[in-house]
Amino acid sequence: MRFVDIIAKKRDRLELTKEEIQFWINGIVDGSIPDYQSSSLLMAIVLNGMNSKETAALTEAMMYSGDVIDLSGIEGIKADKHSTGGVGDKTSLALGPMVAACGLKVAKMSGRGLGHTGGTLDKLESIEGFSCEIEDEDFKKQVNECGIAIIGQTAKLVPADKTLYALRDVTATVPAIPLIASSIMSKKLASGSDTILLDVKFGEGAFMKTVDDARELARAMIAIGKELGRDTRAMISDMNQPLGNAIGNAIEVKEAVDTLHGKGPEDFTELCLQAGEIMLLQGGVYATKEEARKALIQTIEDGSAFGKLKDMVASQAGNVAMLEDTSLLPQAKYVLEMKSVQTGYIQNLNALEMGTLAMRLGAGRATKADSIDHSVGIVLNAKKSDHVNMGDVLALVYTNQELTPEWIEDFYGAYKFSTVVVERDPIIFDVLQ
Ligand code: URA
Repeated sequence: MRFVDIIAKKRDRLELTKEEIQFWINGIVDGSIPDYQSSSLLMAIVLNGMNSKETAALTEAMMYSGDVIDLSGIEGIKADKHSTGGVGDKTSLALGPMVAACGLKVAKMSGRGLGHTGGTLDKLESIEGFSCEIEDEDFKKQVNECGIAIIGQTAKLVPADKTLYALRDVTATVPAIPLIASSIMSKKLASGSDTILLDVKFGEGAFMKTVDDARELARAMIAIGKELGRDTRAMISDMNQPLGNAIGNAIEVKEAVDTLHGKGPEDFTELCLQAGEIMLLQGGVYATKEEARKALIQTIEDGSAFGKLKDMVASQAGNVAMLEDTSLLPQAKYVLEMKSVQTGYIQNLNALEMGTLAMRLGAGRATKADSIDHSVGIVLNAKKSDHVNMGDVLALVYTNQELTPEWIEDFYGAYKFSTVVVERDPIIFDVLQ
């Protein structure tokens, strides 16, 4: 087999065979296929697509390019949830403990933030001592005993994706549904959970800009999951504006803790409840959404979900006192009030801009090598559809530096106001299975 012939085939819009796709992934892993040839095939896939058979073959080849985690030693149903990424998305920190308190096992591998999107690991590392690196056996033991562990993806999980993703990043070949679907699903499948819930986000702050594109990505991923025998469902959720109120790291941990005390923002709490309902149905813990919802609310009311979060943090060497008293989490030097310069209804609160503004304060990374300031970020006081008067506080900015005129201008540029009432959007637009 010659790789140049495989590139030519995709250039000519022909279907690649399973063997050809396997040849490509093998060549990436053993280094026999140079980056320039892989880049060329990637661009041909962006332009000419892949059908569901090719996408499943690519996912399977990537999944087996490294370690495949065996969670069979863990009792019970192992449930995973994955978000395609967004701003203010601290879902795993609240939802994971809630479903674990209902009896599911959450053995989760999470990522770090890049660009305007945050990462669960960075948020958890706001907690003093918290370790995302645990040996395989300790990870499984923790999930067995405490019901939940959230760790970093090991270097040996889907190495082909690491190479391909780095190439896609610099060759303008990220936005293609077969490539995104296979990249996400290969990692989810290799992580070994029995059920997978995908939170596919759409809007300004997401990869997919429209609901239709998000649905198409969700369908592609569900098809892969089914093909490979895993119960895979998806919800399509709004990322036009940030999720919840907090955008940062320590302040998002605080918001997750508040949510587990029943004092979280409405949109975030609702997303956790609806996601939890689906996960509990997938795991067969409850037969109806209503029963599942009741149980999830119970975990907040009786403190069992907060207890799970504390157990997880303690097991991973984190300072639990910081959860019991969130004022002990890293604090920024200044907390500045950003006051509205207009009166009206908020029509738009751009998630991409807000995520980028938080990153510029130091809450995120512009490049992989950047370090993070856990104490900084933005807490929104008003969101889309809310009415504000001139002089009302739109948001609090947690910062360790003076704000520059450019930052302030971009902050106000992220808002659009209307003089007429603006409808509230649902947080979840659709659920697919
Ligand atoms: N997240 C991934 O893991 N891969 C992609 O291709 C896009 C988002």
